[in-house]
Formats: sequence, structure tokens, C-alpha cells
Amino acid sequence: MPNSSTISFAWFITILMLCLVANSQLTTNFYSNSCPNLLTIVRKQVISAVKTEMRMAASLLRLHFHDCFVNGCDASVLLDGSDGEKTALPNNNSARGFEVIDAIKSAVESSCSGVVSCADILAIVARDSVFLSGGPSWKVLLGRRDGLVANQSGANTMLPAPFESVDAITLKFQAVGLNLTDVVSLSGAHTIGQARCASFGNRLFNFSGTNSPDSTLLDPTMVTGLQNLCPVNGDVDKTTPLDWNSTDLFDNHYFQNLINGRGILESDQFLYSSDQAVSTTRSLVEIYSNNSKIFFNDFANSMIKMGNIQPLTGSAGEIRRNCRVVNS
Ligand code: HEM
Ligand SMILES: *[C@@H]1O[C@H](CO)[C@@H](O)[C@H](O)[C@H]1NC(C)=O
Ligand SMILES: *[C@@H]1O[C@H](CO)[C@@H](O)[C@H](O)[C@H]1NC(C)=O
Ligand SMILES: *[C@@H]1O[C@H](CO)[C@@H](O)[C@H](O)[C@H]1NC(C)=O
Ligand SMILES: *[C@@H]1O[C@H](CO)[C@@H](O)[C@H](O)[C@H]1NC(C)=O
Ligand SMILES: *[C@@H]1O[C@H](CO)[C@@H](O)[C@H](O)[C@H]1NC(C)=O
Ligand SMILES: *[C@@H]1O[C@H](CO)[C@@H](O)[C@H](O)[C@H]1NC(C)=O
Repeated sequence: MPNSSTISFAWFITILMLCLVANSQLTTNFYSNSCPNLLTIVRKQVISAVKTEMRMAASLLRLHFHDCFVNGCDASVLLDGSDGEKTALPNNNSARGFEVIDAIKSAVESSCSGVVSCADILAIVARDSVFLSGGPSWKVLLGRRDGLVANQSGANTMLPAPFESVDAITLKFQAVGLNLTDVVSLSGAHTIGQARCASFGNRLFNFSGTNSPDSTLLDPTMVTGLQNLCPVNGDVDKTTPLDWNSTDLFDNHYFQNLINGRGILESDQFLYSSDQAVSTTRSLVEIYSNNSKIFFNDFANSMIKMGNIQPLTGSAGEIRRNCRVVNS
């Protein structure tokens, strides 16, 4: 007869195994029988979207990030509705590419109906967008299912803001299981895409009666141009590239920019220039700025890690028919 301590040891091992399985349920070949051409179908669609508008690669990459940080990678960001994540502060008038995701979902549905989740489509599309912009590639893990709820307040609290310090942003990454390396490598996504005046206008002018926003960290040759683009009381939806050196190319110029005071977002520049950066992010910025191989390798690893945030698997959630609404 086994005594009670061997029984509880057996339980301990069983539970440990279950935990390990729950953490590694995503696989690269999840659809190899149910939708063998999935990756080809998606790649073709992303190529066509990026051909129409180069910036779309950046917008699609960002969707996967904004999905994963809120309730895990469950396509919650794609749900329409007044209580959706789309109208949360970090996304409203900012997140884009939803029509492209719709088109990709239809193309996937017409080959393999009711099989592929919107959350997995976001993960594949993010990988393709980076690769087609000249960045690294990686094997995408698949098998996520779609969530049943959006979380607007979660989007407002979990997503990092461009006015936050290195420490505050690091805490938000840690809250979803990501570390300092992930903070710096994933910030390198800002080597492509655009930002609105709403996201950095605070750096450009000094307002009396408030703490003066810090424009001193910004390359003085950029300040006038940005002030003209973003005048006080101007259109906050005007945009400028996040990387003025090579706007649409996924390279390590973002990190070189930070060293030269050419980060557009205050939060970007903080990774190199703030006091908090000295013992945390600054050394990685220097490494990536000198060596795009290390950046690409770390970026790919961090993307896989980000894609593993709390996926719904097994029979949790559902496979949405339309990425914008839960199935009725
Ligand atoms: C580290 C903290 C981060 C902050 C504070 C941040 C903030 C922002 C902000 C404010 C914008 C401009 C939005 C606008 O003005 O409409 C932006 C754009 C962008 N972000 Fe981030 N972000 C962060 C991390 C990331 C990560 C982890 C990724 C992806 C891996 C990412 C990918 C992008 C891309 C590609 C764009 C350009 C989107 C476009 O052109 O449509 N960001 N980000
Ligand atoms: C989102 O933006 C629209 C258009 O600018 C605005 O009318 C609306 O109030 C914003 N929604 C939220 C929740 O801030
Ligand atoms: C929304 O997100 C917050 C922050 O992660 C979380 O505490 C809350 O449980 C989420 N709500 C729903 C309905 O998922
Ligand atoms: C972050 O995690 C990765 C593994 O996921 C590890 O290789 C890296 O050293 C960690 N970085 C820090 C700063 O702990
Ligand atoms: C804002 O004020 C600081 C000093 O308080 C100054 O160094 C900086 O040039 C000013 N920025 C602008 C855009 O006027
Ligand atoms: C971009 O950066 C490279 C390498 O630092 C430099 O040679 C080039 O002149 C820069 N181009 C622009 C348009 O700033
Ligand atoms: C990396 O760049 C920094 C600053 O740009 C420089 O001081 C350092 O020597 C470089 N390191 C290597 C290993 O090249």
C-alpha cells in the first residue's frame, strides 16, 4: 500500500506535469492537418496589404502586441462594440489594420472554414509583417483560441503609455511575464510605423504653470519640424515616422536613433537617456545599436514569448467565425 506521502508526491508530479503542459500547448504544426496551407494563405494576404501600404506592416505588428497584453493573446483587441478595446485610450484613433485582418480571415475561412482562430492569425501576421519589412523570422507557435470578452479597462491599464518611465513600463511587461530584455528588444518594433502628435506632443512645448515637458532629450534639429507638425491646439492625429532614418525598414536604426537623441516617443528616449536606464535598459540599447544580429535574435525570441501570454487552449474560448464578434 502506498503511504499518504507517496500519494501526495504522485499528485505533486501530476500537477507539475499539467502546469508544464498548460504552458507549452502551442505548437508549430497545430493546423498541419486541419489547414495545411494556412501560412501560405496568410503570407500572400500580408504581402498584398503591405504592397498597398507599407505602414500596414507596423500596424499589424502592433495589433498582436495590443492583443497579447490584454487578457492574453485571444484576439480580444479585434472585438467591435462600445465597450471594446478598440476605443481604449492607447487604441482609439490609433490601432489600425482591422479591415486587413477581416480580409485575411475571409481568405482563411474559404480554405478551412471554422478552424483557425483570429488570435493565431494575429500571431502569424505579426511574424510576416516583420519579415516582409526586412526583419527576422521565426517559427510561429499556434493553437490559441479566441476569447469571449473584450476588456477596455484592461487595455487602459495594461498597455504601456509613451509618457511612462522605464520602471513603470518594465512593471507592465513583468505583469505579463516579460522581462527587461523583452522591454528593450520589443521596443525595437518602433523601427517601423508612425506616431501621432497625441503621443509625443507633450515633449515639444513648455507650458507655464505645469512641469515643463522635457524637450531637452530630443535632437534640437528635430524639434522645429515636430513643433510645426504638432502646434499647440493643432490636429493631434497628424503622424511622423517613429524612425526617421529608415521609416519602413525593420533594422536596428531605432537604437542608433536613441543614442543620438532621435527617439520620437519620450518612453523610447527614456530607454537610453533617463537615470533609470543606466542600470537597466541602456546597455542593451547600446548592444542592439551596434549589432543587429543580436537584436534580431532577441526580438524573435521575445515575440515568441509575447505570443505565449495566457493563450486559451483546449476547449476554452472558441474559434470565431468573424473576428469582430463572438459567435452567437
Ligand atoms: C515599450 C512600451 C511601448 C510603448 C509605450 C508604446 C507606445 C506606442 C505609441 C504611443 C505608438 C504611436 C501610436 C499613435 O500615436 O497612434 C506606438 C506605435 C507602434 N508600436 Fe508601440 N509601444 C510600446 C511597445 C511596443 C511593442 C512591444 C510593439 C510590438 C512588438 C510595438 C509596436 C508598435 C508599432 C509597430 C507602432 C507603429 C504602428 C503604426 O504605424 O500603425 N510597440 N507605440
Ligand atoms: C475615441 O475617439 C473618438 C473620435 O475622436 C471620440 O469621439 C471618442 O470620444 C473617443 N472614445 C473614447 C472612449 O475616448
Ligand atoms: C480586465 O483586465 C484586468 C487587468 O488585467 C483584469 O484584472 C480583469 O480581470 C479583466 N477583466 C475581464 C472581464 O477580463
Ligand atoms: C529574459 O528572459 C530570457 C528568457 O526568456 C533570458 O534569456 C534573458 O536573459 C532574461 N533577461 C533578463 C534581463 O533577465
Ligand atoms: C523647455 O524648457 C527647457 C528648460 O526649462 C529648455 O531647455 C527647452 O529648450 C525648452 N523647450 C522648448 C521646446 O522650448
Ligand atoms: C541612417 O543611418 C545610417 C547609419 O548610421 C547613416 O549612414 C545614414 O546617413 C542615415 N540616413 C538618414 C536618412 O538619416
Ligand atoms: C557600442 O556602442 C557604444 C556607443 O554607441 C560604444 O561606446 C561601444 O564601444 C560599442 N560597443 C561595441 C562592443 O562595439
